[in-house]
Amino acid sequence: MARAVVEGTGAASPPGGPAAGAGVEGTPHCASDEYRTLGSAAYLEQCAQRIRAAADGRLPVWAKLSPCAGDIVDAARTAQDAGAQAVVCANTYWGMALQADGSSRLGSMVGGLSGPAIRPLSVFQTWRVAQEVAVDVVGCGGIVCAADVKEYMAAGAKAVEIGTANFTEPETIIRITEAL
Ligand SMILES: Cc1cc2nc3c(=O)[nH]c(=O)nc-3n(C[C@H](O)[C@H](O)[C@H](O)COP(=O)(O)O)c2cc1C
Repeated sequence: MARAVVEGTGAASPPGGPAAGAGVEGTPHCASDEYRTLGSAAYLEQCAQRIRAAADGRLPVWAKLSPCAGDIVDAARTAQDAGAQAVVCANTYWGMALQADGSSRLGSMVGGLSGPAIRPLSVFQTWRVAQEVAVDVVGCGGIVCAADVKEYMAAGAKAVEIGTANFTEPETIIRITEAL
């Protein structure tokens, strides 16, 4: 059965109120200017604060973790201890794309890399985290077909999220669901 999860940054409350979704996904580290806190203690504290604020008992809270902010296992444990029911592995990987003159080809200087190129990286992070936390792990990154979903499940994921493929092919989720 499909599960609706409303994503938000920080102390997330779903648009339309708590009843609008089956859960809340908090993103402790998302905006493109937050790369400056990569790997810092501030990231873990921010993670804990945002999950605690969202975990008010009304809806399950999933913590969507950055793969670029220190050891993702530390962040997963922090989110678990703060009350998250699941951790999502993972958000995008910080990167840059420059013109020869040094100007950015993106809307901002730093951006998040997503899509098939990151799948092996996030399968690895899913596998690592799944062995270290008791809460469910949700795999995310580069999924384009049913085999990719099974790969994440084999790595320990209990569910998956699909991002980029929905932009390139809006029917992706229907195609994958039918193939599973
Ligand atoms: C255009 C775009 C916007 C995104 N916006 C968010 C966001 O607001 N919050 C967030 O946590 N992740 C965001 N992501 C990350 C995706 O939800 C997902 O974690 C990541 O892209 C990896 O999955 P994918 O390879 O299936 O896209 C965004 C990704 C893309 C491509």
